[in-house]
Amino acid sequence: MGIKISAQNINFFYGPHQALFDNSLDIEENKITAVIGPSGCGKSTHLRIYNRIYELYHDQRAEGKLLIDGKNILEKDVDLLKLRRKVGMIFQKPTPFPMSIFDNVAYPLKLHFNLSKKEISERVEEALRGVSIWDEVKDKLKKSGLALSGGQQQRLCIARTIAARPEILLMDEPTSAIDPIATLKIEDLLLKLKERFTIVIVTHNMQQAARISDNTAFFYKGKIIESGSTKKIFTNPENKKTEEYITGRFG
Ligand SMILES: Nc1ncnc2c1ncn2[C@@H]1O[C@H](COP(=O)(O)OP(=O)(O)OP(=O)(O)O)[C@@H](O)[C@H]1O
Ligand SMILES: [Mg+2]
Repeated sequence: MGIKISAQNINFFYGPHQALFDNSLDIEENKITAVIGPSGCGKSTHLRIYNRIYELYHDQRAEGKLLIDGKNILEKDVDLLKLRRKVGMIFQKPTPFPMSIFDNVAYPLKLHFNLSKKEISERVEEALRGVSIWDEVKDKLKKSGLALSGGQQQRLCIARTIAARPEILLMDEPTSAIDPIATLKIEDLLLKLKERFTIVIVTHNMQQAARISDNTAFFYKGKIIESGSTKKIFTNPENKKTEEYITGRFG
């Protein structure tokens, strides 16, 4: 299987404060990679490099190479709009727009693509089916997205992201704000979505990482201590810190 993303010797700075040290990590295509580690170890910071979203803040900077499909996206001439279309991001708290369920998914399509009304409707349905929520919402597409449950809202946000047909899905603790049943639904969904996307998910839930991910990267104090197949990391880690973390001795 191919390597979709390759971080090579990445250092990251918030102003004078260095948050990531020499991060190197390969992300396999059409797999789920779990990013784990204690609070403040740099998981979100690392993910935010993949779509250069940190550049919205002028004092934040990354050094090193971040290859996506072999191309270094940290170079100056990169088209950020294109990059962010290719690399979709889903956050911890579901963030539906204050508009209808339909428009939540249609809005970015109207904004970024030149599509007919019919094409937009088709893509909205395809995306809502893709996140297994179509049957739940098809009769109330004009109702507000904010009127859905937390788990449904998160699936709606995933639908909004995949409607734009990205290749990579970054998810920063996407299930930490929703209940266990809704969490299992989203986990099932991710297993289905990995056929179409490369998925990177930050999680504090070790069971979740073990259940759904193919590969795992363990972060500690801004460094990637260990990465590789989830099976290996969870059953036979090489580093003592990794073992202590996954067995819950700190966190
Ligand atoms: N906007 C910011 N300005 C300055 N420092 C920051 C900023 N955001 C994060 N940091 C620092 O960078 C380091 C890594 O933070 P990051 O948010 O990436 O950790 P994390 O692993 O995602 O933690 P959590 O599990 O709590 O979400 C921390 O020391 C944090 O204090
Ligand atoms: Mg975080």
